[in-house]
Amino acid sequence: MSQPNGGTFDIVILGAGSGGYAAALRAAELNLSVALIDKAELGGTCLHRGCIPTKALLHAAEVAEQTRESEQFGVKAELVGIDMGGVNAYKDGVVARLYKGLQGLLKQDKITVVNGAGKLVAQDTVEVDGQRYTGRNIILATGSYSRSLPGLEVDGRRVLTSEHALKLDRVPSSVIVLGGGVIGVEFASVWKSFGADVTILEALPRLVAAEDEDISKQVERAFRKRKINFKVGKPFEKVEHTDNGVRATIAGGETIEAEILLVAVGRGPTTANLGYEEQGVTLDRGFVITNERLHTGVGNIYAVGDIVPGLQLAHRGFQQGIFVAEEIAGLRPAAIDEAGIPRVTYSDPEVASMGLTEARAKEQYGADKVSTYNYNLGGNGKSQILKTAGFIKLVRLNDGPVLGVHMVGARMSELVGEAQLIYNWEAFPEEVAQLVHAHPTQNEALGEAFLALAGKPLHAHS
Ligand code: NAI
Repeated sequence: MSQPNGGTFDIVILGAGSGGYAAALRAAELNLSVALIDKAELGGTCLHRGCIPTKALLHAAEVAEQTRESEQFGVKAELVGIDMGGVNAYKDGVVARLYKGLQGLLKQDKITVVNGAGKLVAQDTVEVDGQRYTGRNIILATGSYSRSLPGLEVDGRRVLTSEHALKLDRVPSSVIVLGGGVIGVEFASVWKSFGADVTILEALPRLVAAEDEDISKQVERAFRKRKINFKVGKPFEKVEHTDNGVRATIAGGETIEAEILLVAVGRGPTTANLGYEEQGVTLDRGFVITNERLHTGVGNIYAVGDIVPGLQLAHRGFQQGIFVAEEIAGLRPAAIDEAGIPRVTYSDPEVASMGLTEARAKEQYGADKVSTYNYNLGGNGKSQILKTAGFIKLVRLNDGPVLGVHMVGARMSELVGEAQLIYNWEAFPEEVAQLVHAHPTQNEALGEAFLALAGKPLHAHS
């Protein structure tokens, strides 16, 4: 494909990840001309180095677990091993198909795609390899990178980021996972299923600490049962190389050895040396500050995705990209409600949640104004068929709407759509309790939880 050589567009977008390409597609639909610039592949982190390949690994891990546990369903099968070549071919095939689809969409929409490293050189211009792309509007969408810690050198061999981990051509015998957040528990889950010995080190007092405390406890219970080791409440101090791998030291002096160490201590915004501050864009610890309409306050410059403070999730980026394209087209879309964004961790067990945790709800409304209900999946037929443990926790404002839905167990990600609808509808449990759920489904568990919270439990204990 020949490289375009500059020009003037309605919108110039720097970064073709979830936020950037969604903005491009929606803008093209609204008949705006678009230049979409990226130094790497279209689709960004989520498609190539994040959501999609990791979820493919997690699916392969689930297949391994099901094979291992097949006997409990009366099926005789034996897991003879993990062929990482085969796993990677499957994962890369999924990414390749989606990548091809995305390239086709952008082409069909006549979006000018520029492959190269761009820099903001004026409030309305991005320069790529000496060519100037001028935009009546600019959207900054340069995403995020894996953070490390001071003194922790990522070499891609023994100390890895998730990007390196996705390319491993073998199952390591043992792994230290530094950070028990989303990336940490997802990779720990995969590697354990593939047969590695795994230890998670987390500075905060619990795993998936951003989630409701009861959810963390259930994940920890399940991980203990799966023999995934974890040490919480002790910050990591240092890592040294040994003859066969790495040795990590945590606060208090305890050491843990393993073949490799994965660094999963958060992601930082990619905003350095891109000309943002020189053009007057305000950065706070590297994040781009915008108003609720995602405008930076400088010229016609907007920002979307992981560089904007808040949840670093692809679906938030998509929504922001669509929002900004519509804003530029003059459609005055409603501002995005950040609290209405669903969160999913695809470990085994899965965690899916919406809205406020019990602690946050009590902080916000007062402890006596909030009630909760935990519905155990033990009472849900489909969950029993799947032999999964877990629960759904509802948080409500007394005599008011549902403030939070928190779910843990197999396949809970598939229920988050209903949870989201209920949350965004600001529905009272009494209203939702009227909904008929198909039997037997896991969705029914949500229905049962709402019935119980509305004071009329059917299959639940009150
Ligand atoms: P995270 O913020 O979820 O977790 C990082 C963890 O590292 C925290 O629990 C933190 O306390 C811990 N940590 C920090 N310093 C430490 C130290 N010195 N010693 C021990 N522990 C330490 O970040 P993570 O997991 O790296 O993910 C990055 C971003 O990517 C997140 O915003 C996440 O939402 C997103 N993501 C989303 C996924 C999904 O939606 N399923 C999957 C993977 C990533």
